[in-house]
Amino acid sequence: MDFLKTMKDLAKSDIQRIVLPEGEEERNLVAAATIHAEKIAELILLGNEEVIKEKAKKLGISIEGIEIHDPAKSEKTGTYAKEFYELRKAKGVTEEMAAKTLLDPMYYGTLMVKMGDAQGMVSGAVHTTGDLLRPGLQIVKTAPGISVVSSFFVMLIPNKSYGQDGTMLFADCAVNPNPNEDELAAIAISTAETAKNLCRMDPKVAMLSFSTMGSAKHENVTKVQNAVKKANEQRPDLAIEGELQADAALVEKVGKQKAPNSKVAGEANVLVFPDLQAGNIGYKLVQRLAGAEAIGPICQGFAKPINDLSRGCSSEDIVNVVAITAVQAQNTK
Ligand code: ACO
Repeated sequence: MDFLKTMKDLAKSDIQRIVLPEGEEERNLVAAATIHAEKIAELILLGNEEVIKEKAKKLGISIEGIEIHDPAKSEKTGTYAKEFYELRKAKGVTEEMAAKTLLDPMYYGTLMVKMGDAQGMVSGAVHTTGDLLRPGLQIVKTAPGISVVSSFFVMLIPNKSYGQDGTMLFADCAVNPNPNEDELAAIAISTAETAKNLCRMDPKVAMLSFSTMGSAKHENVTKVQNAVKKANEQRPDLAIEGELQADAALVEKVGKQKAPNSKVAGEANVLVFPDLQAGNIGYKLVQRLAGAEAIGPICQGFAKPINDLSRGCSSEDIVNVVAITAVQAQNTK
């Protein structure tokens, strides 16, 4: 399966409106021109119209036909500020604070998604992950039945003997610094659902640890064991197993030896890491040492899709994340 081609084809089949808050930034502009020309999504760029048009001209690209909103001038800013005030007044936000906050394109874009004026948002070429997540968590919040927003990477591994033909999901590598056992169970369930619904995979979820099926005793191991138990209680229909060491999860021979009764050991295509340090380090090691393509981090669990970019991203990365966001938006209708 060519994951990215599948996402682009799906995105084109039912066009969604996606807002790019970093509309004045060059990689966003180059990506916007491609997305518009290839009809992957209908875009809204945020920023000063003159600045955006001048930059596009300098770059020699056409952004004709793409909507531009300037939060400083838009007639929508007042409506969004009112909504933000209503949503956050119990947390101490005043009307004055709300009006000022809505001049920030990250908040304007998130309110656009909340109010249904866009179906998804992609940002992060300039802003940090926290800058994107905080308005998303405050305004769009989690989808019904989901307690935790988390993230995953689609890892395209050159050695196709791993995962599903070389495709694996890694979670959570970008959001929750130290999930407790309930949160870890929720992350495992969300990622299994994502594997099934977004990536068209048959999920086999390994919950990773430095221990396999009780081989070591430590409070960190107990956390993973309890998370597996909770995930299994909540969703007995999903193949979620652990605790497993990475080699037992990935290598058939080791899996058979260390966890002979497991249906996931040796065949895992979804890896759930015990915390953010392990997850973030883990995906970067596989990316650098194994030459894997890491697509993401893609957020899961928001009521409407909001996605992050790496600050080192290319315009091609932005095109890819917009396509994935559009497919998530189709699935959350
Ligand atoms: N799921 C659902 N709700 C959440 C979550 C979550 N994971 N985290 C926080 N919330 C809620 C809070 O309950 C709170 O709700 P409320 O204000 O309505 O009561 C709201 O979101 C805001 O929470 P805060 O506590 O104010 O936000 P916090 O300062 O904890 O920030 C954040 C949350 C941004 C997700 C933080 O945990 C964070 O910075 N995570 C790490 C991001 C990061 O740096 N990743 C690594 C880099 S990415 C990379 O390398 C690819």
